[in-house]
Amino acid sequence: MGRIIIITGKGGVGKTSVAAAHALRSAQEGAKTLLVSADMAHNLGDIFEMRIGDQPREVSDRLWALELDPERLLQTEFPEVADAFAQMLPGSGLSGAEAEGPFPTPGLDDLFSLLKLKKLYEAGEYARIIVDCAPTGETLSLLKLPENLAWYMEKFFPVGKTMVRLLSPVSRLRYQVRLPDRKAMDRIGELHLRLLGLQELLRDGEVCTARLVATPEKMVVEETKRNYMYLNLYGYHTDGVFVNRVLSPQPGNAFLEGWRDIQQGWLRELRSVFSALPLTEIPWYPQEVRGLDALERLCAEALTAPDLFDVRVRGESEGYEAIPGGYRLVLPLPGARDGQVAVRCHSQDLDVETGNQLRRIPLPNLLRGISPGEVSLKDGVLRVSFLTEQGEEAATCGS
Ligand SMILES: Nc1ncnc2c1ncn2[C@@H]1O[C@H](COP(=O)(O)OP(=O)(O)O)[C@@H](O)[C@H]1O
Ligand SMILES: [Mg+2]
Repeated sequence: MGRIIIITGKGGVGKTSVAAAHALRSAQEGAKTLLVSADMAHNLGDIFEMRIGDQPREVSDRLWALELDPERLLQTEFPEVADAFAQMLPGSGLSGAEAEGPFPTPGLDDLFSLLKLKKLYEAGEYARIIVDCAPTGETLSLLKLPENLAWYMEKFFPVGKTMVRLLSPVSRLRYQVRLPDRKAMDRIGELHLRLLGLQELLRDGEVCTARLVATPEKMVVEETKRNYMYLNLYGYHTDGVFVNRVLSPQPGNAFLEGWRDIQQGWLRELRSVFSALPLTEIPWYPQEVRGLDALERLCAEALTAPDLFDVRVRGESEGYEAIPGGYRLVLPLPGARDGQVAVRCHSQDLDVETGNQLRRIPLPNLLRGISPGEVSLKDGVLRVSFLTEQGEEAATCGS
């Protein structure tokens, strides 16, 4: 089975350096590897000191690099998806109805990057795909796009309506529903199916995991904690933290010693917050990480774990479990504390909100209209129960 590793973090912390080092180490192990930049401010070219474009280019033995260009992808590889959008959103389209939901108008073309990622994965040419992402906020927008778009389609186009319910985990569990025949569906339906497929791939913890890059300083540590929680909120698996630019002891240099002390304090905090994840320290080098030699050094000194490309953490996954008289949604939210998470129910969706992120989870058919019963947040796992067999007194959900 192939592997997709998404490298994410705050701007400037070293995402591209860590992603490129992962890719180089992977290729050195003998695996044909593709390093993909999904950051519109591409800079793989800087790090490999050669021009990289929108076609994979071999930058070293078994190592290929590619800078995604969503606009070109739209024209060259996914014109039928663009057509589906045109059918859904006549004219300029993106106005009016979508105001009601989380329709991600800006950044819509990011979808083409994700579709390309899936296509590359499925083609199986590369054993590993390492994704160098844009800073946290943009990456979260990217990663929640498939679900938000599917939500929108379901809400406004009848074609999606039945599908998302049919394909939802509980319905599948209960009714053994199979995917409808692709040919039988029109373009919009097909796009909807693709969005569900994308979600399935990106949330498959055996294939796709995110890795956080941080530096040992307050602002970055705080953002990294939030990022981790949000990735979990959207159902992504995280299996590593890379702390970059760690100062070595600086005897005789009071200025740098002072900074080292500050860094060590934040490192302790990172170790305690992320105790469930493998944490890798990367030294602060006296020069930029540029060129293969610099990357090789980084690999040799920091990326030495023998299991670097395995799925290194298998946490609890999002899903539904059967309970007496109903079902329970289980959503891991590590680090979340009471009072930080709000759960609200609409007739068809469950909203889970934390910090500045809102996830609207489409409820399976069976649970539609049923008000959530017990909501608990314990040990970083949110559990929401729905009692389907409660008879008369069953609470119902308003719309
Ligand atoms: N450990 C390090 N030591 C020295 N310079 C580094 C280190 N990590 C990154 N850099 C430099 O910092 C800058 C930003 O790194 P980059 O990987 O491009 O970050 P991001 O992709 O998160 O914006 C680059 O110039 C890079 O060479
Ligand atoms: Mg970068």
